[in-house]
Amino acid sequence: MKRILILGAGGQIGSELVPHLRGIYGNDNVIATDVNADKCKHLDGSGPFEPLNALDGEAFSAIVKRYRVDAIFNLVALLSAAGERDPRLAWNVNIGALTNSLYIGKDNGCAVFTPSSIGAFGNDTPKDKTPQDTLQRSNTTIYGVCKVAGELLGDYYYHRFGVDTRSVRFPGLISHVAMPGGGTTDYAVDIFYAAVRDGAFTCNVAAGTYMDMMYMPDALDAVVRLMEADPARLKHRNSFNIAAMSFDPEALAAAIRRHLPAFRLSYDVDPVKQAIADSWPNSMDDTCAREEWDWAPRYDLPAMTAEMLDRIREKLAR
Ligand code: SER
Repeated sequence: MKRILILGAGGQIGSELVPHLRGIYGNDNVIATDVNADKCKHLDGSGPFEPLNALDGEAFSAIVKRYRVDAIFNLVALLSAAGERDPRLAWNVNIGALTNSLYIGKDNGCAVFTPSSIGAFGNDTPKDKTPQDTLQRSNTTIYGVCKVAGELLGDYYYHRFGVDTRSVRFPGLISHVAMPGGGTTDYAVDIFYAAVRDGAFTCNVAAGTYMDMMYMPDALDAVVRLMEADPARLKHRNSFNIAAMSFDPEALAAAIRRHLPAFRLSYDVDPVKQAIADSWPNSMDDTCAREEWDWAPRYDLPAMTAEMLDRIREKLAR
């Protein structure tokens, strides 16, 4: 990868992936784009930015040509709970941005990275140690339908046209720079702000609901490692299970109480989010990612919790 285009640079992942990639590949070689320029203000001056609606294929293609891009990172998506509010919009945005990335990637010789998710699994999938290759009838959210279709589209463009498509199934991502929004795993971010600010949190997902989670620095590392991996080693492409930690709200609260002993957790369960969470794995088996491109996370629950609390304390103090 020499010149990288990021779609959705102002989102939860993009806000940290852009600076991370600029640190590795050089500021001028990472072109940030977003439909909402305001969300990218914090990137100001650190490298190129272009306002872009990823659904506008002509404008998208022109930017790829102008900057001679050789890798496209498509981070555009409505998350799971947001998708349920407007499934038609979610399909159009999530699949539209991906389709454009794939055909523009094909026409311009670009590699294409697009995240998949734990949402690519459904009620019929084995819940514990969910295998890399397994049943994926993810038909309870439009988000999941898009993720399964997206994985297939990525593999199709690789087999049919030789496009270098690669992807990971991200767990819920925990971070402190930009907020997620409209996801089912958002509680695992919100809880830290509430813990620091109020010493208490009301959780919209029930006790005993286990899901895979990951701290953002590991997610950024995964993206770079996978995209730089020797293609000869890749038996899979779209998409790799990657895992770092699995917990339920009680276990997360217990980890927070090691730093804030008085922290209180209560529940007001959102039935839409609960049904989504119940349809997703408790924990994924990431053996293939470890074997094929040396995936190895650094943060477990205690390490992530300690760092999140520190960073959010600093942030709220500012
Ligand atoms: N974090 C996403 C969501 O909750 C899952 O990939 O929708």
